[in-house]
Amino acid sequence: MGTSSAPVDPYHAGMGRVFSGIKPTGPVTLGNYLGALRTWVDAQDADDCVYCVVDLHALTVPSDPAQLRALTLELATVLVAIGLDPRRCTLFVQGHVHEHAELAWLMECTASVGELRRMTQFKEKSDDQHFVSAGLFTYPALMAADILLYDTDRVPVGDDQRQHLELTRDLAERFNSRFGATFVVPEAAVPPVAARVMDLQDPTRKMSKTEESPQGVVLLLDEPASIERKIRRAVTDTGTDVRYDPVAKPGVSNLLAILGAATGRHPAAVAEGYDRYGPLKADCAAAVVELLRPVQARYAELVADPAEVTTILRAGADKAQAVAGPTLARARSAVGLLPR
Ligand code: AMP
Ligand code: TRP
Repeated sequence: MGTSSAPVDPYHAGMGRVFSGIKPTGPVTLGNYLGALRTWVDAQDADDCVYCVVDLHALTVPSDPAQLRALTLELATVLVAIGLDPRRCTLFVQGHVHEHAELAWLMECTASVGELRRMTQFKEKSDDQHFVSAGLFTYPALMAADILLYDTDRVPVGDDQRQHLELTRDLAERFNSRFGATFVVPEAAVPPVAARVMDLQDPTRKMSKTEESPQGVVLLLDEPASIERKIRRAVTDTGTDVRYDPVAKPGVSNLLAILGAATGRHPAAVAEGYDRYGPLKADCAAAVVELLRPVQARYAELVADPAEVTTILRAGADKAQAVAGPTLARARSAVGLLPR
């Protein structure tokens, strides 16, 4: 539960609130699914969950308008297909709820340039780019706004987002101490298994939807034959023994982690069943294909009737705004913005 004494909205009483977001910057990968999205589905029954396709965050890097629109709808459709259920969670698009952009400004004025400069993701994403938007730099302030608008207790994310969560907590605490209790201070919830799925061709890099090496990245909507081919051709390590050792054997360990996550086992326990790479790859591919089969079937149904997803998103934005509006009003009043 959160630690601040911010006003509790009645809708939220009794359950922890969970918030998370995902950018529509490319097709959803197996890494997104195992590292983050699966925990979103699981959290629906225990908590009051709010999930967001963060299209405003996608604008921080050069993006094509038609493609952004298509990716936003595709991602929302995937989220429904994996099992996010509008009766059990709130699913919406960030740009539909203007409170996000507005609270982001207050967060930009709460964050210091020094702390934003220390964000490793900014460093990674701005290195070697000829154009770096100011939005890329202030990205974590918008992310903090996303989370704080919903009096969030827990934020399920992959390991790479820990630093942004720490910043969000710092900003919430700073704001509360300057202006009085306004925000709940959230916590990160990083899953213990397969928190980080690596690229199959370069297992020292995260599997990423914006990666250039398509052979190293398994997409959620990949055909079974393509999934099998990518996993069969995954880079393995020197030697032939199968053991879970992400430093000495990153390639094999990644396959063990994927197979473990797909079948609910620890990668080290999975390793005990194998003494060669071939059977490990075959089982890993089969497990991933089985894991994704029902998701792909549901996706095909939804794509055939796109109105269903648009309706879910419209209702989700209304539900989200009913919570975000009062939080923004509280924050505006706390900093001394004159009421209209
Ligand atoms: P992104 O694709 O960067 O928008 O990330 C969406 C969510 O998926 C975030 O919570 C990430 O931490 C998580 N994620 C992205 N890539 C991976 C990966 N290779 N392994 C585990 N989690 C990931
Ligand atoms: N920054 C996150 C990522 O790159 C996406 C994100 C935006 C997010 N706002 C959020 C995640 C709020 C959790 C909560 O993956």
